[in-house]
Amino acid sequence: MKKIFVAVTGASGTIYARRFFQHFPYDDWEVHAAVSKSAQIVASHEGGLNLPPHVKEWDEKDLTAPVASGSNKFEAMVVIPCSTATLGKMAHGIADNLITRAGEVFLKESRKLILVPRETPLSLIQIKNMELLTLAGAHIIPATPSFYGNPKTIEELVDTVVARVYDHAGVEAEVSNRWRAEEAKEIKHKNV
Ligand SMILES: Cc1cc2nc3c(=O)[nH]c(=O)nc-3n(C[C@H](O)[C@H](O)[C@H](O)COP(=O)(O)O)c2cc1C
Repeated sequence: MKKIFVAVTGASGTIYARRFFQHFPYDDWEVHAAVSKSAQIVASHEGGLNLPPHVKEWDEKDLTAPVASGSNKFEAMVVIPCSTATLGKMAHGIADNLITRAGEVFLKESRKLILVPRETPLSLIQIKNMELLTLAGAHIIPATPSFYGNPKTIEELVDTVVARVYDHAGVEAEVSNRWRAEEAKEIKHKNV
């Protein structure tokens, strides 16, 4: 079974984590997770966050978790949402908790590391940190939802970001409309 590590940090947007866990195809993956102290504080202002029972939760201080070592093979790590603090630490090799240590491990092992920052506006330091992480192999997927699918609810809007995160992580789950997907299907059908 493929393994994924999901970290939730203290950026606004707990709903991104909630939707990520809600749609996740648990039959196909072993899911490990950590929620930072700051994420818990933010969640208490934003509707809360309860991890599903299938998820193996680790304390953010617990460096004995399997994901803290490169010898345990994980397919992907997702930080959703990702604070600029955690992003900055990862960009500079500061591995002072389980989340930043796991980020360091994924980069050194050339594994899929997906960060979903939420901040605006951005300082040059934050932009440079994203540049550094991109050069090091991370995928930066900012929490910037799209509107072309005419989302009717906040959940549907949030799902436009979650869908892109799943795509990059290699997680198979359809959560939002793809641009002109129906039309593309019809064209393919006509050509057969
Ligand atoms: C209500 C609230 C909202 C916040 N929103 C953001 C945000 O949108 N983006 C961000 O990068 N940090 C945000 N922060 C600040 C982070 O929580 C703070 O930098 C924290 O140290 C991050 O720690 P962590 O990365 O270990 O979770 C927010 C803090 C609070 C209390």
